[in-house]
Amino acid sequence: MVATAHTAPSTTPISITLRVWRQAGPNQPGKFVEYPVKDLNPNMSFLEMLDVVNDGLEAKGEEPIAFAHDCREGICGTCSLVINGKPHGPHRGIASCQTYMRSFNDGDVIVVEPYRAKPFPVVRDLITDRSAFDAIQQVGGFITVRPGSAPDANAIPVPKDAADLAMDAAQCIGCGACVAACKNASAMLFVSAKVGHLGLLPQGQAERDSRVLNMVAKMDELGFGNCTNQYECSAACPKLISHDFIARMNRDYLGATFRQAFKPKSNAAGGGA
Ligand code: SF4
Ligand code: FES
Repeated sequence: MVATAHTAPSTTPISITLRVWRQAGPNQPGKFVEYPVKDLNPNMSFLEMLDVVNDGLEAKGEEPIAFAHDCREGICGTCSLVINGKPHGPHRGIASCQTYMRSFNDGDVIVVEPYRAKPFPVVRDLITDRSAFDAIQQVGGFITVRPGSAPDANAIPVPKDAADLAMDAAQCIGCGACVAACKNASAMLFVSAKVGHLGLLPQGQAERDSRVLNMVAKMDELGFGNCTNQYECSAACPKLISHDFIARMNRDYLGATFRQAFKPKSNAAGGGA
């Protein structure tokens, strides 16, 4: 079904059949509906193709296909589509919005559906509710610093290899493709990227233990599954986050659990004399 490289421009128009999941709302029954789409510019993006389909539906007085998007350049993580069974479509290291129609052949049937993961319920058509990720972030994806003027960038030295690795982890755009690709709906790659990003930097040390403990506990509470080392998550990740971060997080988690168990308790009740 998928054939050509996504980078090679083409000028030959293509016609496809779009098979899209339509669902009027949460807990409503859904079904696939087919739309023939003719004479598409192969250099339009996948989301632009959906725009064209929606223009046609609106012209006929029909409900447009609901899909999530924002930046359309691989930054925001909003465009959560499963294209031909793969979160973010056929190519490695790019988001749905960076997928071009020249990735497909004339006459192809392209199946588009929302993420299928219990913690990400369908809101409508191709849109899922991924606020579970926000809830995980809120219990640990931060450092405690007083707001104020920006500190001197050189005040806290950071080893180059730690800075590079932290930057790799910081690439995570919270799209949720890792969860959608995992048969267990595990969020380990997402959480490990967040834990790894801050845990590698000096500024993240104060909350390092509480961060990993709280984020993992929230992840479990919200119904994400366990990692069984299939690595479908990193294969689907548009930012190529390495599953090595999961191993790093597991080590952090074990150490934090141990330290928590033997943590000395302060007698200070707070408040001062
Ligand atoms: S780890 Fe990758 S796939 Fe998972 S949320 Fe982050 S960017 Fe998306
Ligand atoms: S729309 Fe922002 S990453 Fe795709």
